[in-house]
Amino acid sequence: MSGDGDRNIIRVLLVDDEEDYRSVLHKRLSGRSISVVEAATGQAALDQLSVAPVDVVVMDVKMPGMDGVQTLKCIKDRYPELEVILLTGHANPQDGVEGIKMGAFDYLSKPIEIEQLVRKIRQADEKIVRARVEKEEAAFRERIKQQMVIAERLAALGTMATGVAHEINNPLAIIQESAGWLQQILGKPELRDIPRKADFEKALNRIGKAVHRARNITRQLLQAVHTQSTDLTEPVEMVAVDLQSLARESISLVEQEAQQKQIAIRLDIVEPLPVVWSEPYPLLQVLINLMTNAIHATGAGGTITLRLEGTDDRARITVLDTGCGISEEHLPRIFEPFFTTKGVGQGTGMGLYVSWGIIQKLGGTISVNSQVNQGSTFTITLPVKE
Ligand SMILES: Nc1ncnc2c1ncn2[C@@H]1O[C@H](COP(=O)(O)OP(=O)(O)OP(=O)(O)O)[C@@H](O)[C@H]1O
Ligand SMILES: [Mg+2]
Repeated sequence: MSGDGDRNIIRVLLVDDEEDYRSVLHKRLSGRSISVVEAATGQAALDQLSVAPVDVVVMDVKMPGMDGVQTLKCIKDRYPELEVILLTGHANPQDGVEGIKMGAFDYLSKPIEIEQLVRKIRQADEKIVRARVEKEEAAFRERIKQQMVIAERLAALGTMATGVAHEINNPLAIIQESAGWLQQILGKPELRDIPRKADFEKALNRIGKAVHRARNITRQLLQAVHTQSTDLTEPVEMVAVDLQSLARESISLVEQEAQQKQIAIRLDIVEPLPVVWSEPYPLLQVLINLMTNAIHATGAGGTITLRLEGTDDRARITVLDTGCGISEEHLPRIFEPFFTTKGVGQGTGMGLYVSWGIIQKLGGTISVNSQVNQGSTFTITLPVKE
């Protein structure tokens, strides 16, 4: 096994103070899908590991200076994923038992039978591969779990927010109607000369504007939840989408705002691009939301990169900015409806919530990575057309 490049070659570090013995073992191990590097002392082994990684260490226990067991301890402390096979003197198998207690994979007594050593090296390597796969699986499960928690919370919030929006729409309608009625009365000839008439009119005007804004918000919210409806009977118009032209269109729509703020927008395409199976309009809306957020977060001289690429079985769209980033405290909340750090009247906090809903519906994922003062990266993955 090898982490990089050729996965069939097992990289072995051979540590023994006897040069002749080392070179014999080296020769006999080579050419069996094993590549060997040598070290003459425990310290040399540690130096070697710090410059080039290996998979398995084969090490003599009895060495001058730092002996094999001490070196084993250092190796296990620094590189817990490495496996170590100890070579003990024929008369001292207890050294090997001691080594296993300290984390060695196994030990062999000298003189070594080469086939047995090769077998042990392969077994140690299999253990490493297994551990790595298990670790990846655990990380994957953890990620899915986190996504589910977020999805459930957002769905609950959406339901609650829709209920509130419905409830608020009714009193809003009454306020609007009553304000209109008052305005009408104020216009009557018999009230032409009442004192402070202009103040009344101003106040009614303000009420009208505020109601208008509140209705806008409830409308957006109801729309957003509608977008996220998972009702399978609702027809969804899926077509083959050319990501490149969609990306260019989204850029053309936000370009002017970016130019005004002296922010450069780059389109980075990693060919060949897969064809995505999606609803084009909502996807465009998501790109515009992400790009607009990036523009708001980035100062003059900054850059926004829109990257398109294919992964093994998905299409990946990344929106990367060099802006202010998102604090750890805000990060878990940015996909919530109404969460905004923008001033009153500047942001509704619906952009990412709506985007999240759209991507969910398209069978994709959306996630974020951010570093305060360095920038943010939003990543979308989408199913591709077979
Ligand atoms: N690229 C980004 N860089 C830094 N912060 C971001 C970025 N994108 C989103 N945010 C944070 O997430 C919050 C929510 O974003 P969202 O798009 O949902 O709402 P908004 O932009 O505040 O308002 P709206 O999009 O409704 O006008 C933002 O207020 C901001 O704090
Ligand atoms: Mg936004």
